[in-house]
Amino acid sequence: MLYKEIADSFNLELDASNSIEDINRLKVKYLGKKGIITEALKGMSSLAPQERPTHGQALNQLKREIEDLLSKREEHLKQIDITRRQIKESLDITLPGNRIPIGSLHPINLVLDEIVDIFVSMGFDIEDGPEVELDYYNFEALNIPKDHPARDMQDTFYITEDIVLRTQTSPVQVRAMQKSSPPLRFISPGKVYRCDSDISHTPMFHQVEGLMVDTDITFSYLKGVIEVFLKEFFGRNVSVRFRPSFFPFTEPSAEVDIGCIICKGQGCRVCKETGWLEVMGAGMVHPKVFENVGYDTSIYKGFAFGMGVERLTMLRYSITDIRLFFENDIRFLEQF
Ligand code: DAH
Repeated sequence: MLYKEIADSFNLELDASNSIEDINRLKVKYLGKKGIITEALKGMSSLAPQERPTHGQALNQLKREIEDLLSKREEHLKQIDITRRQIKESLDITLPGNRIPIGSLHPINLVLDEIVDIFVSMGFDIEDGPEVELDYYNFEALNIPKDHPARDMQDTFYITEDIVLRTQTSPVQVRAMQKSSPPLRFISPGKVYRCDSDISHTPMFHQVEGLMVDTDITFSYLKGVIEVFLKEFFGRNVSVRFRPSFFPFTEPSAEVDIGCIICKGQGCRVCKETGWLEVMGAGMVHPKVFENVGYDTSIYKGFAFGMGVERLTMLRYSITDIRLFFENDIRFLEQF
């Protein structure tokens, strides 16, 4: 009976044990030097000699069972512990890592690079000029005298009476011609500034100017170069037309249109139902401009053109609001 009681209370305690500490406590309680089993074995000496073997056997049997159960339980708890730790410390190497965001080229720069590449492949050099420019280079040398009505076309930021933020890249023409004599063949990409801001205008934007001067330049050269450029940029099938226009620094002047790439010339909102999109201004360099830089107009002829980079970029990527370029919204920029 005594053994059954020991066994029952042990089983109850074993069931309730949840940790190695619990197991160690039970080991001490039942099997330790002063443990229940140990004490019971010691107590055998008080039994009559003929009772000892049966009791001894039963007690030893119980002791082995307890040892066995304890070590099994201990093993089980250790396993649980290991599994728990494995789950906690496990490293799932299939999880995607944290991406480090990497910057990319701005769409305007992507298109600028492309424009530059096309003209460089046609043998054009690159010329640079200041963004804070003298009125003389921005206007006067380009045959736009003070009080000329053509100045109204460009809303100028004046710094002083004689210094402006350049409103166009055309002044680079003048600087380049002052610096070197013909033949000349270059483009000049860069920032320009006008006091204007709405869905298709920003106070700062980009232009690419072009100039070619030599002894035998004709309007056909202009047409050829521009057509090659536009077909490279927009694709072989793009249609191109030249429309008479006016610029003070060219004569004759033209505006260049491409067949609307959105509606393929059918007429849509983007081309204002005309089927055509204006992409640049161009013309034969005005003799006044050559005179201003001391070129002999009886020997030299030239053509010039100027295009807006934002406009080309908007057409290339179907962007409808120019202000997106300068808001620096990462969701917009990371698409390019
Ligand atoms: N500078 C002109 C503008 O900003 C664009 C332009 C037109 C440039 C005709 C040229 C040209 O070189 O020949 O509107």
